[in-house]
Parts: sequence; C-alpha cells; structure tokens
Amino acid sequence: MKQKTIPFYRPVISEKSVKAVAKVMRSGWLTTGKYAQEFEKRFAAYVGGKYALALNSGTAALHLALDAIGLKAGEEVILPTTTFAASAEVVEYFNAKPVLCDVRRDTQNIDETKIERLITKRTRAIMPVHFGGHPCEMNAVMRIARKHRLVVIEDAAHCTPAYYRKRPVGSIGHITCFSFYANKCITTGEGGMAVTENRRWFERMKMMSLHGLSRDAWSRYDKKGSWYYEILDRGYKYNMTDVAAALGIHQLEESNGLWDRRRKAVERYHRLLKGIPGLRLPAELPHCKSAWHLYSIRVAPAQINRDKLIRFLAEAGIKTSVHFIPLHLHPFYRNKYGYQEKDFPVAFESFQGSITLPLFPSITEKEQRYVADKIRAFCS
Ligand SMILES: Cc1ncc(COP(=O)(O)O)c(C=O)c1O
Repeated sequence: MKQKTIPFYRPVISEKSVKAVAKVMRSGWLTTGKYAQEFEKRFAAYVGGKYALALNSGTAALHLALDAIGLKAGEEVILPTTTFAASAEVVEYFNAKPVLCDVRRDTQNIDETKIERLITKRTRAIMPVHFGGHPCEMNAVMRIARKHRLVVIEDAAHCTPAYYRKRPVGSIGHITCFSFYANKCITTGEGGMAVTENRRWFERMKMMSLHGLSRDAWSRYDKKGSWYYEILDRGYKYNMTDVAAALGIHQLEESNGLWDRRRKAVERYHRLLKGIPGLRLPAELPHCKSAWHLYSIRVAPAQINRDKLIRFLAEAGIKTSVHFIPLHLHPFYRNKYGYQEKDFPVAFESFQGSITLPLFPSITEKEQRYVADKIRAFCS
C-alpha cells in the first residue's frame, strides 16, 4: 500500500493569482512599480496602518525598522527567547544587544510581567513576537514602552491577520513587520511589509530599502523620471518586485478566506486531539484572534518522548516541525552572552515538549484525522 504523506505546509495559489503574475511577467516591468505600490496601499488598509512599505522579506522589514529608529551600537532591544533567528540577528547587525525575555506558558509570547526588570539605560526598543499569530499582551507592552520612552517594533511575521482587543495587529505598535515567506499566512514566495504611522520613519525605511538613494530614484526609469540620483546613506537592496506584489495583492484578497479555513482546521484538531493524556493544545485567549499560522502542541516530557513522537509521525509520512529552539540555546547566543539552559525556564520547558503539526488552508478532515489517530496511538 502506498504510504500516505502529509506535508508540513501546502500553499494555496489561486489560478487568478497565477494569471496576475503572468500578466506582470509579460508587461515589460518586473521590479518595484505600480503593483508594489498597490499592494502597499491595500495592505495598510487591511491592517489599519497609515504607511506600508513592501520589501523582499520580513527580516528586511525588521532591519529597516531598527535603522529607522536610529538604533546604535551598544543599545539594547528586549525580545522573547522563543522566536526565529531573524528577530535577534537584525539587532546584532547594529552591534546592539538582543536582551532575551522568558515567555508565557499559554501563548509562548513574551511574558509582559518580566519585561520591565530587563530595562536599562541602554534599552531602546521592545520587540514583541506574536508567536504562531497569537497577539502578545499589547496593552501592557505599550504601557511599559510609554513609561520608559521605548519604541515598540512588532515582529508580526505570523500575523496576517490577527486582532488584539478588536484592533488589527499593524495598528498598535510603532512599527509592525510582516512576512510573506512561502509558508506564511499569505505569501509572495519571499517578501515582507513594514507598517507605521510615522512618516519620517517610513521615508527613511523607503530610502534605505533602495541603496539609500534619493527619493526620486524610484522614478528614474519613468517617462517623467530623471537619470539623476544621489546616495544619501549606505542603504540596502530590500525592495519588493512587482512579480511578487501581484501575487501578494491576490493573496491579500483571499486572506480572510484562507484564515477561515485555517480556523476550521484548528477547531477540528482541537476536537480530534481532545483528551489525549499528556498533551496540551494551543490556546486562543478570549480577547484575541490568532492568525493561526501554527498549530503547536506541547507534550509533557515526563509522559511522552517528543523526539520519538516526531520520528513516529515521520515514519507515518507526517511532516512536523518545532517552533522554536529558543535563541538562548543556540551556540551563537549561548557563547556570546553566556546563557544557561534554565535562564528562561518556561521557554526551555515548553521547547522540550513542543511539536508543530501540519496546518494549512487545504488540509482535509481525513488528513487531520490520520494525524490525530497516529498521535493517539503513540500516546496510549
Ligand atoms: C518570528 C519570525 N520573525 C521573522 C521572520 C523572518 O521572515 P522572513 O523569512 O520573511 O525574512 C520569520 C520567518 O520565518 C519568523 O518566523
């Protein structure tokens, strides 16, 4: 009998979006242009932000956000240890220090009650990461930021869309950074967006996203454009192509529908996995709406061997992942800052039991039943 395989992720790309991308490819204009501009306009409206800048990754958005606030060498940015490499590496780019914080057991988000004790004279910013698309406790984060005059840069890579107390993520912090990587809620293959209310920061991010060239460099190939430009700072090459933006526009149009399908799949997992001893299912707090980018379960390590379960599922053709190996356990951060495993006890313990199951809009009930049956069989 043929072995079943359930991928970790399967993107949903509509025929309409394939046609839109093909149209751009035939248009003679492939790089940043009117599609990128249109995507920015629509995305800003979708997340309730004022200015949106389309970029070639979420990492680029985080990097430019820190550049825009003028982060300096030796300054500090507070962020959770449970996150992806990108959130901290961008701080390192400035020779600044990522100061790690433990997370909450229920959402895996930064523990807002532990932020204030990490603040020093050198702290410039807090970077909450909305784990799996579940918003952090943003009222508390913003209150702390106001009190200590800090900037809040949200890592919203998992959040298209997510809501905190009915406010869309994108309308809360000072700069919010989204990712459109291949397996994210909406995708442009690779891509990202930085959203802010602050015009000065927006202009700076825009300039630095294209080599630090003077503003009119964007239109230098237009009919009205001029060949002349000036280098105003040493910038980066982070702009989004129109090919990617054409896909982004359609993904955004389909975003609520994709979100509904993920939510339905989450409800099915909740139902199918209920009552398995030693298993903790992901939560959604009542005042939040998660984007449900990830369905991360936790096993009680004393009862269930996580690594064996992952291998057992892999042998059954089910691809899983682990989100995330906390930053403080990685050689680079451990060696540079001398972290010990137990410095962040909640993150460490959660990581030891963590498995992320396949979750994507087109996952079928049959596929989910198969996953749940295998987990139940292993756990009993
Ligand atoms: C929490 C988090 N932040 C940032 C990023 C970076 O996004 P990108 O891959 O678009 O650069 C990712 C990507 O996986 C992520 O998971």
